[in-house]
Amino acid sequence: MKRRLSLFLILALFVALVGATNAQEDEDLSGQLEIFSWWAGDEGPALEALIALYNEAYPNVEVINATVTGGSGVNARAVLKTRMLGGDPPDSFQVHAGEELTGTWVVAGRMEDLTFLYEENGWFDAFPQDLIDLLTYDGGIYSVPVNIHRSNVMWYSPAHLEEWGIEAPTSWEQFLTETCPTLQEAGVTPLVVGEAWTVNHLWESVALGVLGADGWNGIWTGETDPMGDDMIAVWDTFGDVLACSNIDEDAAGLSWQQAIDKVLAGEAGFNIMGDWAAGYMVTTLGLEPGEGFGYMPAPDTAGVFMWLSDSFGLPNGIANRDNTIAWLTLLGSVEGQNAFNPLKGSIPARVDAVEAAPELYNAYLQSAAMDWSENTLVGSLVHGAAANERFMGEFGQVVEIFRQAGSLAAANAMSTICIQSGACG
Ligand code: GAL
Repeated sequence: MKRRLSLFLILALFVALVGATNAQEDEDLSGQLEIFSWWAGDEGPALEALIALYNEAYPNVEVINATVTGGSGVNARAVLKTRMLGGDPPDSFQVHAGEELTGTWVVAGRMEDLTFLYEENGWFDAFPQDLIDLLTYDGGIYSVPVNIHRSNVMWYSPAHLEEWGIEAPTSWEQFLTETCPTLQEAGVTPLVVGEAWTVNHLWESVALGVLGADGWNGIWTGETDPMGDDMIAVWDTFGDVLACSNIDEDAAGLSWQQAIDKVLAGEAGFNIMGDWAAGYMVTTLGLEPGEGFGYMPAPDTAGVFMWLSDSFGLPNGIANRDNTIAWLTLLGSVEGQNAFNPLKGSIPARVDAVEAAPELYNAYLQSAAMDWSENTLVGSLVHGAAANERFMGEFGQVVEIFRQAGSLAAANAMSTICIQSGACG
C-alpha cells in the first residue's frame, strides 16, 4: 500500500513537472522585445542576468537590450522622451517608482494599467505598501518594481582609513572639523564628487542629515519652508562639505564609477553614492564588502533609509505586448528578483525574495535588507521618488545658482521652482 502510494506520488510529480514545462512552451512567444534602460557597460550585468533568464524561458523571442549610457538616466530620459512623444515607445523602459513614472507618463495617458497583472500574480501582497503607493495613480498601478536602492550611503576603503589613522565620520560636524582637515593635510581629497547629478545626489544626503526625516518629508508637503532657517542651514553645510571636495578640480569629468575608483585608489577619502556602488565594487571589481570597501549611512542619517526603486512598465501602443507581459511577469517573480539584485547592489522589491535564497545576498545587501525593514523610510529626490520631473529638471540650476551666489540665492531659487512645479505641497 505504502509502495503504491509513493509510486502514485512520483507519477503525480512527473505529470506536474511535464505540465509546467508544457505551460511554458505553450506560451510560444516569438518576435522581439525591446527593453530600454541606462544600465550600460559596467552597470549592465544584473539586467543581462535577467535577460538570460527570459531567453531561457522564451527562446524564440529576440531581446533587444537598448541602453543609453549615463548614470541616473541623465541621457536616457531625454532619448525616451523623444521616442515616446514621437510615437515610438520601447516595449518596456526603466523608470523610477514615484513621480518620474506617474507624474510624467501616467498622467499623460501613455501607460497601461497593470492591475490585472498584479492580481494574476498576487503582487499586491508581494510588494510593500509604500512602494505600491508610489506606483499607483488614480486607482491604477503602472509598473513592476525590480529593486530597492538606498541613496544615503557613504563609501570608503577600510585599508586607506587605517593608513591615514582616521575613522569614518558619523556626523557632518565631525567630517568638517576632523576628517576634512586631516585628509587635506595628507594631500587626499576628503570627499570626491563627479559629474553634476552626483553633486545633486550629495545634496540630498546633506539635506536629509541637516533636516532629519520629518524635515526632509516636509519639503514635499509644504511644512518645511524652502526659505526658512533650516533650509539655509542645509545650503551652508552643503557649501562647507563641497569645500572639502574636488568640485572645482576634476569633478565634472568623473562618472560615479570613476569617483568610486578614486576612493579605492586612496586619492579620496569618501564618496556619497547610492548602493549601485556596492554592485559595481562587488560584481565588476570583485571586492568583498567590509574588506575591499566599507560603507555606512551618510553622516547624520543613521536610522533613515532614503530609498528609490527601479521599475518597468507597459507603454500603450507597443509592438510586442505579449512578450512584454512575459518580461514584466519574470521581473516581478522571486526568481527574477533573485537573479537581478545580488548583482545590482540592490535588495529585492518583493518582501519574500531574500528569505527564499539568503545565500545569494552578501554582507552589504543583508545589512541593507535589515535597515530597509527597520529604518524610517524617505524618498529620494534625485532618483524620482520625492518630486515631479519639472522640479528635478530645474533643481540642477538651483545648485548652480548656489555655487555662483550662495545660500540665500539658492533658497530663493528653490522656493521659485517649488511654486512653479507644484512639487512642495
Ligand atoms: C539610479 C538607478 C540605479 C543606478 C543609478 C546609477 O537612478 O536607480 O539603478 O542605475 O541610477 O546610474
